[in-house]
Amino acid sequence: MTNATSDPAVTAPEDGAPHVRIFDTTLRDGEQAPGFSMAVEAKMVVARALQALNVDIIEAGFAAASPGDFAAVQTIAREIEGPRICSLSRLNEPDIEAAARAVEPAGKRRVHTFIGTSPTHREAKLKMTRDEILKRISTTVRFACDACEDVEFSPEDAIRTEREYLAEAVQAAIEAGAVTINIPDTVGYTTPEEIYDLFRFLTAGAPEHVTFSVHCHDDLGMAVANSLAAVRGGARQIECAINGIGERAGNCSLEEAVMALKTRKDYFGMETQIDTAKLYPASLALSRVTHHPIPRNKAVVGKNAFAHEAGIHQHGVLADRRTYEIMDAEAVGMPSNSIVLGKHSGKHAFAARVASLGLNADKARIEEVFPDFKRLADTCREVTDADVVKLITGHGGEDGRAGPWRLRRLELRTDAEEEEILPFARITMKHDDGTRQTVQTEGGGPVDAAFAAVCAISGVDGRIVSLDLHHTADGEDTLVNAEATVAVDGKEYSGRAREVDIADAAVAAFIAAVNQAAATAENRKGAPLEGAA
Ligand code: KIV
Ligand code: ZN
Repeated sequence: MTNATSDPAVTAPEDGAPHVRIFDTTLRDGEQAPGFSMAVEAKMVVARALQALNVDIIEAGFAAASPGDFAAVQTIAREIEGPRICSLSRLNEPDIEAAARAVEPAGKRRVHTFIGTSPTHREAKLKMTRDEILKRISTTVRFACDACEDVEFSPEDAIRTEREYLAEAVQAAIEAGAVTINIPDTVGYTTPEEIYDLFRFLTAGAPEHVTFSVHCHDDLGMAVANSLAAVRGGARQIECAINGIGERAGNCSLEEAVMALKTRKDYFGMETQIDTAKLYPASLALSRVTHHPIPRNKAVVGKNAFAHEAGIHQHGVLADRRTYEIMDAEAVGMPSNSIVLGKHSGKHAFAARVASLGLNADKARIEEVFPDFKRLADTCREVTDADVVKLITGHGGEDGRAGPWRLRRLELRTDAEEEEILPFARITMKHDDGTRQTVQTEGGGPVDAAFAAVCAISGVDGRIVSLDLHHTADGEDTLVNAEATVAVDGKEYSGRAREVDIADAAVAAFIAAVNQAAATAENRKGAPLEGAA
Protein backbone atom coordinates (compact mmCIF):
# COMPACT_ATOMS: atom_id res chain seq x y z
CA MET A 1 0.00 0.00 0.00
CA THR A 2 1.34 3.45 -0.82
CA ASN A 3 1.00 6.17 1.78
CA ALA A 4 3.77 8.27 0.34
CA THR A 5 3.26 11.82 -0.82
CA SER A 6 5.61 12.97 -3.55
CA ASP A 7 4.81 16.66 -3.01
CA PRO A 8 7.65 18.39 -1.19
CA ALA A 9 5.27 21.21 -0.16
CA VAL A 10 3.28 18.78 1.96
CA THR A 11 4.61 18.77 5.51
CA ALA A 12 4.00 15.75 7.68
CA PRO A 13 1.73 16.57 10.62
CA GLU A 14 3.49 16.80 13.96
CA ASP A 15 2.06 13.60 15.33
CA GLY A 16 3.11 11.76 12.17
CA ALA A 17 -0.44 10.87 11.03
CA PRO A 18 -0.48 10.23 7.26
CA HIS A 19 -1.41 13.23 5.15
CA VAL A 20 -4.45 13.09 2.89
CA ARG A 21 -4.24 15.64 0.09
CA ILE A 22 -7.31 17.70 -0.66
CA PHE A 23 -7.69 18.14 -4.42
CA ASP A 24 -10.44 20.66 -4.99
CA THR A 25 -12.44 20.42 -8.20
CA THR A 26 -15.10 23.07 -7.48
CA LEU A 27 -13.83 25.12 -10.42
CA ARG A 28 -13.77 22.19 -12.85
CA ASP A 29 -16.19 19.33 -12.07
CA GLY A 30 -18.30 21.68 -9.92
CA GLU A 31 -18.38 24.38 -12.54
CA GLN A 32 -19.39 21.83 -15.21
CA ALA A 33 -22.75 21.23 -13.47
CA PRO A 34 -25.80 22.98 -14.94
CA GLY A 35 -26.40 26.33 -13.22
CA PHE A 36 -22.89 26.58 -11.74
CA SER A 37 -20.83 28.04 -14.57
CA MET A 38 -18.64 30.91 -13.38
CA ALA A 39 -16.96 33.82 -15.13
CA VAL A 40 -13.26 34.49 -14.45
CA GLU A 41 -13.99 37.04 -11.67
CA ALA A 42 -16.29 34.58 -9.87
CA LYS A 43 -13.71 31.83 -10.25
CA MET A 44 -11.10 34.11 -8.69
CA VAL A 45 -13.32 34.68 -5.64
CA VAL A 46 -13.59 30.91 -5.17
CA ALA A 47 -9.88 30.36 -5.90
CA ARG A 48 -8.95 32.86 -3.16
CA ALA A 49 -11.26 31.05 -0.74
CA LEU A 50 -9.54 27.75 -1.66
CA GLN A 51 -6.15 29.36 -1.12
CA ALA A 52 -7.28 30.52 2.34
CA LEU A 53 -8.47 26.98 3.07
CA ASN A 54 -4.95 25.76 2.18
CA VAL A 55 -6.10 23.02 -0.20
CA ASP A 56 -3.23 21.03 -1.69
CA ILE A 57 -4.40 21.23 -5.31
CA ILE A 58 -6.86 23.44 -7.19
CA GLU A 59 -8.25 21.97 -10.39
CA ALA A 60 -8.92 25.33 -11.97
CA GLY A 61 -10.71 24.20 -15.13
CA PHE A 62 -10.48 22.36 -18.41
CA ALA A 63 -8.13 24.56 -20.47
CA ALA A 64 -9.02 23.10 -23.88
CA ALA A 65 -12.78 23.41 -23.30
CA SER A 66 -13.03 27.09 -24.32
CA PRO A 67 -10.92 30.27 -24.50
CA GLY A 68 -12.73 31.43 -21.34
CA ASP A 69 -11.75 28.27 -19.47
CA PHE A 70 -8.15 28.62 -20.67
CA ALA A 71 -8.05 32.23 -19.46
CA ALA A 72 -9.53 31.30 -16.09
CA VAL A 73 -6.97 28.53 -15.50
CA GLN A 74 -4.14 30.83 -16.59
CA THR A 75 -5.32 33.71 -14.35
CA ILE A 76 -5.57 31.40 -11.34
CA ALA A 77 -2.12 29.95 -12.16
CA ARG A 78 -0.72 33.50 -12.26
CA GLU A 79 -2.39 34.87 -9.17
CA ILE A 80 -2.82 32.06 -6.64
CA GLU A 81 0.21 31.05 -4.63
CA GLY A 82 0.38 28.04 -2.36
CA PRO A 83 -1.78 25.27 -3.81
CA ARG A 84 -0.66 23.34 -6.89
CA ILE A 85 -2.71 24.54 -9.90
CA CYS A 86 -4.08 21.87 -12.20
CA SER A 87 -5.92 21.72 -15.51
CA LEU A 88 -7.92 18.76 -16.76
CA SER A 89 -7.32 17.43 -20.28
CA ARG A 90 -8.51 14.54 -22.37
CA LEU A 91 -5.81 12.03 -23.25
CA ASN A 92 -4.77 13.68 -26.51
CA GLU A 93 -1.84 15.90 -27.41
CA PRO A 94 -3.63 19.20 -28.24
CA ASP A 95 -5.63 19.08 -24.97
CA ILE A 96 -2.51 18.32 -22.96
CA GLU A 97 -0.58 21.13 -24.64
CA ALA A 98 -3.36 23.60 -23.79
CA ALA A 99 -3.50 22.39 -20.17
CA ALA A 100 0.28 22.63 -19.75
CA ARG A 101 0.36 26.14 -21.25
CA ALA A 102 -2.49 27.34 -19.03
CA VAL A 103 -0.86 26.16 -15.76
CA GLU A 104 2.63 27.27 -16.86
CA PRO A 105 2.66 30.54 -14.75
CA ALA A 106 1.94 28.64 -11.49
CA GLY A 107 4.68 28.02 -8.95
CA LYS A 108 3.46 24.40 -8.73
CA ARG A 109 1.48 22.92 -11.64
CA ARG A 110 -0.20 19.72 -12.70
CA VAL A 111 -1.84 18.26 -15.79
CA HIS A 112 -4.67 15.82 -15.05
CA THR A 113 -5.42 13.66 -18.04
CA PHE A 114 -8.10 11.01 -18.45
CA ILE A 115 -9.58 8.41 -20.78
CA GLY A 116 -12.56 6.09 -20.32
CA THR A 117 -11.70 2.45 -19.58
CA SER A 118 -15.04 0.75 -18.80
CA PRO A 119 -16.76 -1.40 -21.45
CA THR A 120 -19.48 1.22 -21.97
CA HIS A 121 -16.95 4.01 -22.45
CA ARG A 122 -14.73 1.90 -24.72
CA GLU A 123 -17.54 0.67 -26.92
CA ALA A 124 -20.19 3.39 -26.93
CA LYS A 125 -18.08 6.54 -26.59
CA LEU A 126 -14.50 5.93 -27.68
CA LYS A 127 -14.99 3.03 -30.14
CA MET A 128 -11.56 1.78 -29.12
CA THR A 129 -10.35 -1.66 -28.12
CA ARG A 130 -8.73 -2.42 -24.78
CA ASP A 131 -5.28 -2.60 -26.42
CA GLU A 132 -5.72 0.66 -28.29
CA ILE A 133 -6.57 2.37 -24.99
CA LEU A 134 -3.54 0.87 -23.24
CA LYS A 135 -1.29 2.06 -26.07
CA ARG A 136 -2.81 5.56 -25.91
CA ILE A 137 -2.16 5.64 -22.15
CA SER A 138 1.49 4.66 -22.61
CA THR A 139 2.30 7.13 -25.35
CA THR A 140 0.16 10.09 -24.32
CA VAL A 141 0.84 10.04 -20.56
CA ARG A 142 4.54 10.08 -21.55
CA PHE A 143 3.81 13.12 -23.77
CA ALA A 144 2.06 14.79 -20.80
CA CYS A 145 5.07 14.14 -18.56
CA ASP A 146 7.29 15.92 -21.08
CA ALA A 147 4.88 18.88 -21.10
CA CYS A 148 4.47 19.17 -17.30
CA GLU A 149 6.53 17.88 -14.39
CA ASP A 150 3.51 16.60 -12.41
CA VAL A 151 0.95 14.39 -14.17
CA GLU A 152 -2.18 12.76 -12.79
CA PHE A 153 -3.98 10.05 -14.72
CA SER A 154 -7.63 8.98 -14.39
CA PRO A 155 -9.18 5.88 -15.95
CA GLU A 156 -12.67 7.36 -16.33
CA ASP A 157 -15.51 5.15 -15.04
CA ALA A 158 -12.91 3.06 -13.21
CA ILE A 159 -15.55 1.53 -10.95
CA ARG A 160 -17.31 -0.14 -13.90
CA THR A 161 -14.05 -1.26 -15.49
CA GLU A 162 -12.99 -4.93 -15.27
CA ARG A 163 -10.55 -5.13 -12.32
CA GLU A 164 -7.67 -6.83 -14.09
CA TYR A 165 -7.93 -4.47 -17.05
CA LEU A 166 -8.11 -1.47 -14.70
CA ALA A 167 -4.90 -2.67 -13.04
CA GLU A 168 -3.26 -2.87 -16.49
CA ALA A 169 -4.35 0.68 -17.32
CA VAL A 170 -3.02 1.95 -13.98
CA GLN A 171 0.26 0.10 -14.53
CA ALA A 172 0.66 1.59 -18.02
CA ALA A 173 0.12 5.13 -16.67
CA ILE A 174 2.63 4.65 -13.83
CA GLU A 175 5.22 3.25 -16.26
CA ALA A 176 4.66 6.26 -18.52
CA GLY A 177 5.42 8.62 -15.62
CA ALA A 178 2.13 9.56 -13.89
CA VAL A 179 2.74 10.18 -10.16
CA THR A 180 -0.91 10.38 -9.13
CA ILE A 181 -3.46 7.75 -10.11
CA ASN A 182 -7.01 8.88 -9.61
CA ILE A 183 -9.80 6.28 -9.46
CA PRO A 184 -13.09 7.94 -10.44
CA ASP A 185 -16.51 6.62 -9.61
CA THR A 186 -17.75 8.65 -12.55
CA VAL A 187 -21.39 7.63 -12.19
CA GLY A 188 -21.69 7.36 -8.39
CA TYR A 189 -22.27 3.61 -8.52
CA THR A 190 -19.98 2.10 -5.90
CA THR A 191 -20.42 1.34 -2.20
CA PRO A 192 -18.02 1.88 0.72
CA GLU A 193 -17.13 -1.84 1.04
CA GLU A 194 -16.58 -2.24 -2.70
CA ILE A 195 -14.33 0.81 -3.12
CA TYR A 196 -12.34 -0.03 0.03
CA ASP A 197 -11.63 -3.44 -1.47
CA LEU A 198 -10.71 -1.96 -4.87
CA PHE A 199 -8.17 0.42 -3.31
CA ARG A 200 -6.63 -2.41 -1.29
CA PHE A 201 -6.27 -4.34 -4.55
CA LEU A 202 -4.84 -1.46 -6.61
CA THR A 203 -2.43 -0.06 -4.01
CA ALA A 204 -0.93 -3.42 -2.96
CA GLY A 205 2.63 -3.45 -4.23
CA ALA A 206 2.33 -0.10 -6.04
CA PRO A 207 5.51 2.01 -6.14
CA GLU A 208 6.07 4.30 -3.13
CA HIS A 209 6.29 7.48 -5.21
CA VAL A 210 2.77 7.07 -6.60
CA THR A 211 -0.19 8.61 -4.78
CA PHE A 212 -3.61 7.01 -5.23
CA SER A 213 -6.55 9.36 -5.38
CA VAL A 214 -10.33 8.95 -5.18
CA HIS A 215 -12.99 10.89 -7.10
CA CYS A 216 -16.59 10.03 -6.19
CA HIS A 217 -19.93 11.26 -7.49
CA ASP A 218 -23.03 11.41 -5.33
CA ASP A 219 -25.72 9.78 -7.49
CA LEU A 220 -26.66 7.40 -4.68
CA GLY A 221 -25.75 9.83 -1.89
CA MET A 222 -22.58 7.90 -0.96
CA ALA A 223 -19.79 10.12 -2.37
CA VAL A 224 -18.39 11.16 1.02
CA ALA A 225 -18.73 7.69 2.57
CA ASN A 226 -17.12 6.12 -0.50
CA SER A 227 -14.23 8.62 -0.50
CA LEU A 228 -13.54 7.95 3.18
CA ALA A 229 -13.67 4.18 2.59
CA ALA A 230 -11.15 4.61 -0.25
CA VAL A 231 -8.85 6.47 2.16
CA ARG A 232 -9.05 3.50 4.51
CA GLY A 233 -8.19 1.31 1.52
CA GLY A 234 -5.05 3.34 0.68
CA ALA A 235 -6.11 6.53 -1.13
CA ARG A 236 -4.08 9.56 -0.04
CA GLN A 237 -5.85 12.19 -2.14
CA ILE A 238 -9.55 13.05 -2.12
CA GLU A 239 -11.04 14.91 -5.07
CA CYS A 240 -13.91 16.98 -3.79
CA ALA A 241 -15.81 20.24 -4.17
CA ILE A 242 -17.12 22.97 -1.89
CA ASN A 243 -20.77 22.34 -1.00
CA GLY A 244 -20.44 19.05 -2.91
CA ILE A 245 -21.17 20.66 -6.28
CA GLY A 246 -20.38 18.72 -9.45
CA GLU A 247 -21.85 16.76 -12.33
CA ARG A 248 -25.45 15.59 -11.71
CA ALA A 249 -25.87 14.98 -7.93
CA GLY A 250 -22.41 16.41 -7.34
CA ASN A 251 -19.02 15.37 -6.04
CA CYS A 252 -17.77 14.42 -2.61
CA SER A 253 -18.30 17.48 -0.41
CA LEU A 254 -14.98 18.99 0.68
CA GLU A 255 -16.22 20.29 4.01
CA GLU A 256 -17.84 16.96 4.93
CA ALA A 257 -14.81 14.84 4.03
CA VAL A 258 -12.40 17.19 5.83
CA MET A 259 -14.51 17.42 8.99
CA ALA A 260 -15.08 13.64 9.03
CA LEU A 261 -11.30 13.08 8.94
CA LYS A 262 -10.77 15.70 11.64
CA THR A 263 -13.65 14.76 13.93
CA ARG A 264 -12.99 11.02 13.63
CA LYS A 265 -9.21 11.14 13.62
CA ASP A 266 -9.41 8.42 16.26
CA TYR A 267 -10.93 6.16 13.56
CA PHE A 268 -9.23 7.25 10.32
CA GLY A 269 -5.85 8.22 11.79
CA MET A 270 -5.27 10.75 8.97
CA GLU A 271 -4.67 14.48 8.70
CA THR A 272 -5.35 17.15 6.13
CA GLN A 273 -3.71 20.57 6.01
CA ILE A 274 -7.04 22.39 5.67
CA ASP A 275 -7.66 25.47 7.83
CA THR A 276 -11.12 24.33 8.84
CA ALA A 277 -12.09 27.77 10.17
CA LYS A 278 -12.21 28.85 6.51
CA LEU A 279 -14.78 26.19 5.52
CA TYR A 280 -17.91 28.24 6.13
CA PRO A 281 -16.47 31.40 4.50
CA ALA A 282 -15.56 29.30 1.42
CA SER A 283 -19.02 27.73 1.29
CA LEU A 284 -20.61 31.16 1.58
CA ALA A 285 -18.34 32.64 -1.11
CA LEU A 286 -19.32 29.88 -3.54
CA SER A 287 -22.99 30.27 -2.70
CA ARG A 288 -22.81 34.01 -3.33
CA VAL A 289 -21.00 33.88 -6.66
CA THR A 290 -23.17 31.05 -8.04
CA HIS A 291 -26.42 32.39 -6.52
CA HIS A 292 -27.25 28.98 -5.07
CA PRO A 293 -28.16 29.09 -1.38
CA ILE A 294 -26.54 26.60 1.00
CA PRO A 295 -29.31 24.15 1.93
CA ARG A 296 -30.39 24.79 5.51
CA ASN A 297 -29.76 21.20 6.59
CA LYS A 298 -26.42 20.84 4.74
CA ALA A 299 -23.89 18.98 6.90
CA VAL A 300 -21.12 21.17 8.37
CA VAL A 301 -22.04 24.50 6.70
CA GLY A 302 -25.88 24.62 6.63
CA LYS A 303 -27.69 27.10 8.86
CA ASN A 304 -29.14 24.23 10.90
CA ALA A 305 -25.83 22.40 11.34
CA PHE A 306 -25.28 24.06 14.72
CA ALA A 307 -28.82 25.26 15.43
CA HIS A 308 -31.12 23.93 18.13
CA GLU A 309 -34.77 24.62 18.71
CA ALA A 310 -36.05 21.77 20.88
CA GLY A 311 -36.14 22.82 24.55
CA ILE A 312 -34.35 19.66 25.76
CA HIS A 313 -31.57 20.13 23.20
CA GLN A 314 -31.27 23.84 23.98
CA HIS A 315 -30.98 23.16 27.70
CA GLY A 316 -28.29 20.54 27.02
CA VAL A 317 -26.31 22.72 24.61
CA LEU A 318 -26.44 25.73 26.91
CA ALA A 319 -25.10 23.56 29.75
CA ASP A 320 -22.44 21.90 27.56
CA ARG A 321 -22.59 22.07 23.76
CA ARG A 322 -21.08 18.55 23.48
CA THR A 323 -24.40 17.05 24.59
CA TYR A 324 -25.75 17.55 21.07
CA GLU A 325 -22.76 18.70 18.98
CA ILE A 326 -19.75 16.73 17.74
CA MET A 327 -18.01 19.74 16.18
CA ASP A 328 -17.44 23.33 17.23
CA ALA A 329 -19.24 25.91 15.09
CA GLU A 330 -16.13 28.10 15.40
CA ALA A 331 -13.96 25.24 14.09
CA VAL A 332 -15.70 25.49 10.72
CA GLY A 333 -15.83 29.28 10.76
CA MET A 334 -19.47 29.73 11.78
CA PRO A 335 -20.06 32.59 14.20
CA SER A 336 -21.28 30.26 17.02
CA ASN A 337 -23.80 27.53 17.62
CA SER A 338 -27.24 29.00 17.31
CA ILE A 339 -30.14 28.54 19.55
CA VAL A 340 -33.18 29.04 17.35
CA LEU A 341 -36.07 30.40 19.33
CA GLY A 342 -39.37 28.78 18.47
CA LYS A 343 -42.35 27.11 20.06
CA HIS A 344 -40.17 24.24 21.32
CA SER A 345 -37.82 26.57 23.22
CA GLY A 346 -37.75 26.89 26.97
CA LYS A 347 -37.03 29.69 29.46
CA HIS A 348 -33.29 28.87 29.59
CA ALA A 349 -32.89 29.59 25.90
CA PHE A 350 -35.05 32.72 26.01
CA ALA A 351 -33.11 34.15 28.97
CA ALA A 352 -29.77 33.27 27.32
CA ARG A 353 -30.78 35.14 24.16
CA VAL A 354 -31.87 38.19 26.17
CA ALA A 355 -28.46 38.16 27.86
CA SER A 356 -26.52 37.64 24.62
CA LEU A 357 -28.30 40.62 23.07
CA GLY A 358 -27.05 42.67 26.04
CA LEU A 359 -30.58 43.61 27.09
CA ASN A 360 -31.43 44.84 30.58
CA ALA A 361 -33.92 42.37 32.02
CA ASP A 362 -33.99 40.81 35.46
CA LYS A 363 -35.46 37.41 36.36
CA ALA A 364 -38.86 38.90 37.13
CA ARG A 365 -39.00 40.57 33.71
CA ILE A 366 -38.12 37.27 32.00
CA GLU A 367 -40.92 35.52 33.94
CA GLU A 368 -43.34 38.28 32.99
CA VAL A 369 -42.53 38.26 29.28
CA PHE A 370 -42.09 34.50 28.80
CA PRO A 371 -45.83 33.72 28.27
CA ASP A 372 -45.92 36.40 25.51
CA PHE A 373 -42.85 34.78 23.95
CA LYS A 374 -44.61 31.39 23.88
CA ARG A 375 -47.77 32.91 22.39
CA LEU A 376 -45.70 34.61 19.68
CA ALA A 377 -43.70 31.42 19.00
CA ASP A 378 -46.95 29.55 18.36
CA THR A 379 -47.80 31.90 15.52
CA CYS A 380 -44.48 31.91 13.65
CA ARG A 381 -41.73 29.54 12.56
CA GLU A 382 -38.95 31.36 14.37
CA VAL A 383 -38.81 34.13 16.96
CA THR A 384 -36.18 36.59 15.72
CA ASP A 385 -33.76 38.73 17.74
CA ALA A 386 -35.90 41.70 16.72
CA ASP A 387 -38.92 40.00 18.32
CA VAL A 388 -36.96 39.39 21.53
CA VAL A 389 -35.90 43.04 21.67
CA LYS A 390 -39.52 44.02 21.14
CA LEU A 391 -40.76 41.69 23.89
CA ILE A 392 -38.24 42.98 26.40
CA THR A 393 -38.19 46.67 25.53
CA GLY A 394 -41.85 46.98 24.70
CA HIS A 395 -41.08 48.76 21.46
CA GLY A 396 -43.78 47.84 19.02
CA GLY A 397 -46.49 49.56 17.21
CA GLU A 398 -49.59 49.70 15.16
CA ASP A 399 -48.02 48.10 12.09
CA GLY A 400 -46.98 45.09 14.13
CA ARG A 401 -43.25 45.63 13.54
CA ALA A 402 -40.75 46.29 16.30
CA GLY A 403 -39.85 50.01 16.53
CA PRO A 404 -38.62 52.54 17.34
CA TRP A 405 -38.42 53.52 13.64
CA ARG A 406 -41.28 52.92 11.21
CA LEU A 407 -41.28 53.45 7.47
CA ARG A 408 -43.85 55.98 6.30
CA ARG A 409 -42.86 56.60 2.68
CA LEU A 410 -40.33 55.08 0.31
CA GLU A 411 -39.46 56.44 -3.12
CA LEU A 412 -36.72 54.82 -5.19
CA ARG A 413 -35.39 56.04 -8.49
CA THR A 414 -32.89 54.76 -11.05
CA ASP A 415 -32.57 57.03 -14.05
CA ALA A 416 -30.80 55.16 -16.79
CA GLU A 417 -31.57 57.77 -19.47
CA GLU A 418 -30.12 60.71 -17.61
CA GLU A 419 -26.69 59.39 -16.79
CA GLU A 420 -25.70 62.36 -14.65
CA ILE A 421 -28.45 61.50 -12.15
CA LEU A 422 -27.29 58.87 -9.68
CA PRO A 423 -29.79 56.36 -8.30
CA PHE A 424 -31.40 57.79 -5.18
CA ALA A 425 -33.91 57.05 -2.45
CA ARG A 426 -36.20 59.43 -0.58
CA ILE A 427 -37.45 58.04 2.71
CA THR A 428 -39.78 59.27 5.44
CA MET A 429 -39.64 57.51 8.79
CA LYS A 430 -41.46 58.11 12.08
CA HIS A 431 -40.05 57.45 15.54
CA ASP A 432 -42.20 56.02 18.36
CA ASP A 433 -41.70 59.35 20.18
CA GLY A 434 -43.70 61.02 17.40
CA THR A 435 -40.86 62.72 15.46
CA ARG A 436 -40.82 62.37 11.69
CA GLN A 437 -37.88 62.78 9.29
CA THR A 438 -37.41 62.73 5.53
CA VAL A 439 -34.02 62.18 3.90
CA GLN A 440 -32.93 61.85 0.26
CA THR A 441 -29.69 59.94 -0.43
CA GLU A 442 -27.78 58.83 -3.51
CA GLY A 443 -26.12 55.43 -3.82
CA GLY A 444 -24.67 52.78 -6.13
CA GLY A 445 -28.25 51.59 -6.63
CA PRO A 446 -31.63 52.70 -5.28
CA VAL A 447 -31.81 50.04 -2.55
CA ASP A 448 -28.28 50.88 -1.49
CA ALA A 449 -29.31 54.55 -1.31
CA ALA A 450 -32.35 53.59 0.80
CA PHE A 451 -30.11 51.77 3.29
CA ALA A 452 -27.96 54.90 3.60
CA ALA A 453 -31.08 57.03 4.15
CA VAL A 454 -32.32 54.72 6.93
CA CYS A 455 -28.93 55.03 8.64
CA ALA A 456 -28.95 58.81 8.27
CA ILE A 457 -32.41 59.12 9.85
CA SER A 458 -31.94 56.57 12.64
CA GLY A 459 -28.40 57.61 13.52
CA VAL A 460 -27.45 53.92 13.45
CA ASP A 461 -24.18 53.42 11.55
CA GLY A 462 -25.12 50.13 9.90
CA ARG A 463 -23.37 48.20 7.13
CA ILE A 464 -25.25 45.53 5.17
CA VAL A 465 -23.51 42.16 5.58
CA SER A 466 -25.95 39.95 3.72
CA LEU A 467 -29.36 40.19 2.15
CA ASP A 468 -31.26 37.02 1.32
CA LEU A 469 -34.38 37.28 -0.80
CA HIS A 470 -36.74 34.55 -1.88
CA HIS A 471 -40.20 34.38 -3.34
CA THR A 472 -43.09 32.38 -1.94
CA ALA A 473 -46.57 32.01 -3.33
CA ASP A 474 -49.41 32.97 -1.02
CA GLY A 475 -52.65 32.14 -2.80
CA GLU A 476 -52.78 34.34 -5.89
CA ASP A 477 -49.93 36.58 -4.68
CA THR A 478 -46.22 36.09 -4.85
CA LEU A 479 -44.51 37.47 -1.79
CA VAL A 480 -40.87 38.30 -1.23
CA ASN A 481 -39.27 37.19 2.03
CA ALA A 482 -36.20 39.23 2.90
CA GLU A 483 -33.62 38.67 5.61
CA ALA A 484 -31.01 41.38 6.15
CA THR A 485 -27.95 41.08 8.36
CA VAL A 486 -26.54 44.44 9.35
CA ALA A 487 -23.28 45.10 11.22
CA VAL A 488 -23.31 47.89 13.80
CA ASP A 489 -20.29 48.57 16.02
CA GLY A 490 -18.89 45.09 15.40
CA LYS A 491 -22.14 43.30 16.28
CA GLU A 492 -24.56 41.77 13.79
CA TYR A 493 -28.32 42.26 13.84
CA SER A 494 -30.80 40.58 11.55
CA GLY A 495 -34.19 41.71 10.42
CA ARG A 496 -36.89 40.07 8.35
CA ALA A 497 -39.75 41.31 6.26
CA ARG A 498 -42.34 40.02 3.82
CA GLU A 499 -43.65 42.27 1.06
CA VAL A 500 -45.09 42.07 -2.43
CA ASP A 501 -42.32 44.21 -3.89
CA ILE A 502 -38.68 43.10 -3.74
CA ALA A 503 -37.24 46.56 -2.92
CA ASP A 504 -39.89 47.17 -0.21
CA ALA A 505 -38.99 43.82 1.36
CA ALA A 506 -35.25 44.57 1.30
CA VAL A 507 -35.67 48.02 2.87
CA ALA A 508 -38.17 46.79 5.49
CA ALA A 509 -35.79 43.96 6.52
CA PHE A 510 -32.94 46.48 6.77
CA ILE A 511 -35.10 48.75 8.97
CA ALA A 512 -36.03 45.78 11.19
CA ALA A 513 -32.32 45.08 11.77
CA VAL A 514 -31.55 48.77 12.40
CA ASN A 515 -34.46 48.93 14.86
CA GLN A 516 -33.05 45.99 16.72
CA ALA A 517 -29.68 47.77 17.03
CA ALA A 518 -31.38 51.03 18.10
CA ALA A 519 -33.64 49.39 20.68
CA THR A 520 -30.77 47.33 22.09
CA ALA A 521 -28.63 50.46 22.47
CA GLU A 522 -31.48 52.32 24.21
CA ASN A 523 -32.15 49.42 26.55
CA ARG A 524 -28.45 49.11 27.42
CA LYS A 525 -28.41 52.78 28.39
CA GLY A 526 -30.92 51.76 31.04
CA ALA A 527 -33.97 53.27 29.43
CA PRO A 528 -37.04 52.34 31.45
CA LEU A 529 -38.64 49.13 30.22
CA GLU A 530 -42.24 49.36 29.22
CA GLY A 531 -44.21 47.23 31.66
CA ALA A 532 -41.24 46.81 34.00
CA ALA A 533 -41.87 47.11 37.70
O1 KIV B 1 -16.05 11.86 -12.85
C1 KIV B 1 -15.03 11.69 -13.54
O2 KIV B 1 -14.74 10.61 -14.03
C2 KIV B 1 -14.18 12.85 -13.79
C3 KIV B 1 -12.87 12.58 -14.41
C4 KIV B 1 -12.57 13.52 -15.49
C5 KIV B 1 -11.82 12.53 -13.34
O3 KIV B 1 -14.53 13.94 -13.44
ZN1 ZN C 1 -16.18 13.80 -11.94
